[in-house]
Amino acid sequence: MSSPLLTVIDVGPRDAAVVVLLHGFPLSSAMWREQIAALSDRWRVLAPDLRGFGASRFAEGAVAEGGDDSLDQYADDVVAALDALGISEPTTVCGFSMGGYVALNLLRRHPERIGALVLMGTLATADGDAQRATRLKMAEGVHEWGSARVAELMRPKLFGPAAPQRAIDETAAVIAATDPRAIAAAQRAMAARPDSTGLLPSIVIPTLLVAGVDDAISTVEAMRSMAAAIPGSRFEVIDGAGHMTPVEQPQAVSDVLRDFLRASNDQ
Ligand code: MLT
Repeated sequence: MSSPLLTVIDVGPRDAAVVVLLHGFPLSSAMWREQIAALSDRWRVLAPDLRGFGASRFAEGAVAEGGDDSLDQYADDVVAALDALGISEPTTVCGFSMGGYVALNLLRRHPERIGALVLMGTLATADGDAQRATRLKMAEGVHEWGSARVAELMRPKLFGPAAPQRAIDETAAVIAATDPRAIAAAQRAMAARPDSTGLLPSIVIPTLLVAGVDDAISTVEAMRSMAAAIPGSRFEVIDGAGHMTPVEQPQAVSDVLRDFLRASNDQ
């Protein structure tokens, strides 16, 4: 199913509570394959490809090419996709990594659309100077390097030592197939993202945080302190995983999501 801009996987019972799965960078809804299969018996699962990623086309202007250098456009695209599907009630939004930055942005811009929140392998802090510079270097260089080189550069930070080879290979293939313009735009948008730490204590909806025990990008310590700042939140650590928990330990991630969805939808 396509919204005006985004391609969205939309499966599960039409009258069930909705969960929206937001992918990381520079990935696509494909990273949620196992969770979509595991959850769609009981929930309506939406997994959009953010603009320029997966099957969603890259649109010039807006966030594209650093047009407004922000994640606002990604959040607004998700709301437009929900509108196009006729979904106006609050949903559970589960954001992984960059998708988590988008989820926090959604919470800031469209709080009425979120009834429960999952922050997975993500951070509330903004980039430091060094990380921002690295992002901008990639945004500049990716057109020349090509996306396959981005896959090579990112790989060491994405996976823990126990990652299945198939997950590593499939992730690399998705990155290699990503439009370099989308990679550049997303890096600029992430480099410009605000610090959301101050938002955390005001989150009053049911919230789950999920960290991979060996995540080098959003560490257990960083995510634990986010959880401590969100009143009443739940925090789960996934064993045997680095950053890419949904593909490294798909069953464990699906299990914690099911538990959380059951509890939060019944509240
Ligand atoms: C991701 O997995 O979405 C990215 O690693 C996030 C980031 O670069 O901060």
